[in-house]
Amino acid sequence: MQRLAPALRDDEVPLDLISLIKTILAATKEISFRVSQAHLGGLMGSTLDENIQGEIQKKLDVVANELFKDILLESGFVKAISSEEEDTSVAGEEHGKFIVSFDPLDGSSNIEINSLIGTIFSIHYADPDLAANDPDQFKQAGTKQCCAGYVLYGPSTMLVMTTGKGTHLYVLDRTHGGYLLVERNMQIPQDTQEFAINMSNQRHWQAPMQQYIADLLKGEEGPRGKNFNMRWIAAMVGDIHRLLCRGGIFTYPTDNKNPDKPYKLRLMYEANPMAFLVEQAGGLAVTSEGRIMDIDPTDIHQRVEVIMGSKNEVEQCLSYYK
Ligand code: F6P
Ligand code: MN
Repeated sequence: MQRLAPALRDDEVPLDLISLIKTILAATKEISFRVSQAHLGGLMGSTLDENIQGEIQKKLDVVANELFKDILLESGFVKAISSEEEDTSVAGEEHGKFIVSFDPLDGSSNIEINSLIGTIFSIHYADPDLAANDPDQFKQAGTKQCCAGYVLYGPSTMLVMTTGKGTHLYVLDRTHGGYLLVERNMQIPQDTQEFAINMSNQRHWQAPMQQYIADLLKGEEGPRGKNFNMRWIAAMVGDIHRLLCRGGIFTYPTDNKNPDKPYKLRLMYEANPMAFLVEQAGGLAVTSEGRIMDIDPTDIHQRVEVIMGSKNEVEQCLSYYK
């Protein structure tokens, strides 16, 4: 098994980006420890605060955000950060070469049940012509990411990351405290019999998604001629990890539950980094109208429809929208 930095050098990742990645991973090791000790350290439950998206923050959301933010801003590499838990972008080092968007703890409703949660991050090069405190720094499409990844705090702490040369899987080896490469170039099988969607929203979906899922549920007797299994971890990071490991389709489609909020997942720190990982592993990552990574962002917290996973299955789903 190969250690992190030599593996990144094999992919010809620039040294300053390797340094930033190591900084990010230092934060995730501490978050991993805090997560494992949450009960013992009095970190279960919610704060009394809401984030800008109107979600009550969990104590661990806040701790993970502070840790990640501080470590990035102190590193000297980072010009600005944006986080699910910060109302606006936060300026860092004026000459920092990178900007980082992150979800410090995705799937936080899983905290209290000791189930899967993780940290998602997305890195772009900073625009040297814009000031560190200019939020326009973040108006860069997903195609411009130079690195994206997530760390999953599960039975093992795992890192899945891409710098644009394949999606690789690393495991945190607690005996020496570093991430080791365990699978180079993960490949999502092109076909699948597994789907992930929150079925409780079924009545709120648009007609094409209603029809697509109805056809999956008909199984062998239906138009697809095969049975499908359903999985829902309720943490995007866990659901995407499953489809990177063994295929599947994951979607959080447009719904009309709340007309002001037709989408659930956030472009900059959920959809884009996962889209980069999925595409680098041979999968597709789209909305019903086009490729996720081609979207020009207008706001750091903007939400987007998400359909991603096994190539042939995503194409099947899209065919219902034509
Ligand atoms: O961050 C949003 C999120 O927690 C995702 O990780 C997850 O896929 C989704 O929300 C779960 O939503 P629901 O409440 O519909 O299960
Ligand atoms: Mn999230």
